[in-house]
Amino acid sequence: MTVHACLSRRHVLGGAVAFGACGPLLVACGADEDPPAEVPDAGTQLAGTSEVPVGGGVILKNQNVVLTQPTKGEFKAFEATCTHAGCTVTSVSTTITCSCHGSQFELADGSVTHGPATAALPAVKITVDGTSILTA
Ligand code: FES
Repeated sequence: MTVHACLSRRHVLGGAVAFGACGPLLVACGADEDPPAEVPDAGTQLAGTSEVPVGGGVILKNQNVVLTQPTKGEFKAFEATCTHAGCTVTSVSTTITCSCHGSQFELADGSVTHGPATAALPAVKITVDGTSILTA
């Protein structure tokens, strides 16, 4: 049965996927991921400003939010669900990375810098109140 699903998927992809690579492809897109958390309601405290590194960011998995600070004092927030196939993004350095298939997103606007994702991470409205970052 798995073979039929694999062949069917291979045909859909125009034969580009070798038989041996089909299994891992299906696993990588599998349903083992928990559904993403909902972005919190307005007024919810997300983090302290000191928790978000300049030129980097943090992933708040329980709140499905990525907070970034592209330049000192400039904070941005995005949904943490990758727009490619729905994994939660996995790391933030100079870009936001989803290790499921290698997509990368810009810290400043969530735009795609490396596929396979083609759509930006949706922005989450935030406000900074003193040293607290809250949803807006
Ligand atoms: S789900 Fe495929 S790169 Fe993120």
